[in-house]
Amino acid sequence: MRVLVTGGAGYIGSHTLVELLGQGHQACVVDSFLNGSPRALDRVRELTNGGLEVHEGDVRDTAFLTRVAIAFRPEAVIHFAGLKAVGDSGARPVEYYDVNVGGTLSLLRAMEASDCGRIIFSSSATVYGEPVYLPYDEAHPLKPTSVYGQTKLMAEILLTDWAKARPEASVMLLRYFNPVGAHASGRIGEDPRGVPDNLMPFLAQVATGQRDRLRVFGNDYPTPDGTGIRDYIHVVDLARAHVAALGRAEAVTGAEVYNIGTGRGYSVMEMLAAFSRAVGRDLPHEIMPRRQGDIAEMQADCAKAAGVLGWRAQYDIDDMAGSLWGWQSANPTGYDG
Ligand code: UFG
Repeated sequence: MRVLVTGGAGYIGSHTLVELLGQGHQACVVDSFLNGSPRALDRVRELTNGGLEVHEGDVRDTAFLTRVAIAFRPEAVIHFAGLKAVGDSGARPVEYYDVNVGGTLSLLRAMEASDCGRIIFSSSATVYGEPVYLPYDEAHPLKPTSVYGQTKLMAEILLTDWAKARPEASVMLLRYFNPVGAHASGRIGEDPRGVPDNLMPFLAQVATGQRDRLRVFGNDYPTPDGTGIRDYIHVVDLARAHVAALGRAEAVTGAEVYNIGTGRGYSVMEMLAAFSRAVGRDLPHEIMPRRQGDIAEMQADCAKAAGVLGWRAQYDIDDMAGSLWGWQSANPTGYDG
């Protein structure tokens, strides 16, 4: 299929491009390079020998997107482009709503202009908010606790209403849990700007000596070792979920939602131990107070993705840790090194 990929130069976007091109799909990337690097796309080309068209621009620029879409005539769109820092979203709500909700509206206009009716959307488990029960299934109440989460939920609502109005449309909403790891080649991976907010990229920089120690945010949660539990998913598994969703979008119409995780939770201390094993030495850490807004625990119920998409995560915690170290040790300062 011809697939238009917004945010293709980012962490999840670049890994998804490798899987798409590897399956024989054609891709056209739109990226502002605000949080992604053109070098990630050079590496995707190198890994796949795939033809990759790239256009630099902002998803809010409807005229630009429409020009690209009319020329490329996508049969489907995968929409990654967006802002994603939970803490930052509370401080810059206008920017977050503009990019994440306004950007999605702009994309839908470009899709209508180019007669494209299929979209896979990069949503997040954060739309569920405080767990009413665990694991979260797709029917769990939706009550995000951050501006970021609200923007993802609003985009989901917008896309669902769009599908209702267009009987030929198909919308796949993928709610990601915690993506980690990197491509096995070590050529592409996560390259955060500034101080990483997330556990694994921070830990990766402790291992290379760019940060002195991991700060563990709280060890007094009601979990076996007291640290927070998350459903970490290997980014290559996550990338493959998009390819599976693309196949589903070709076969059915309407809006569907899927949790994309492993169904298994690991604590901060378990992730630290796994990454220390991958690096081959103990990494320094310090217990700190809880981080505001964090919950104790979350995992996905992934039965729907397995049953309907035929997709399941294949990689385990050591694959996640080992591939992350493969990327970070070869590219200690990311793509700019
Ligand atoms: N943590 C630390 N030290 C750090 C960073 C994180 O101890 O330096 C802990 C957190 O307290 C939490 C766990 O590691 O217990 C995971 O934290 P992350 O920041 O890596 O991930 P979150 O679960 O907070 O959030 C991530 C994304 C969100 C997304 C959410 C969905 O950042 O965008 O997963 O589940 F919405």
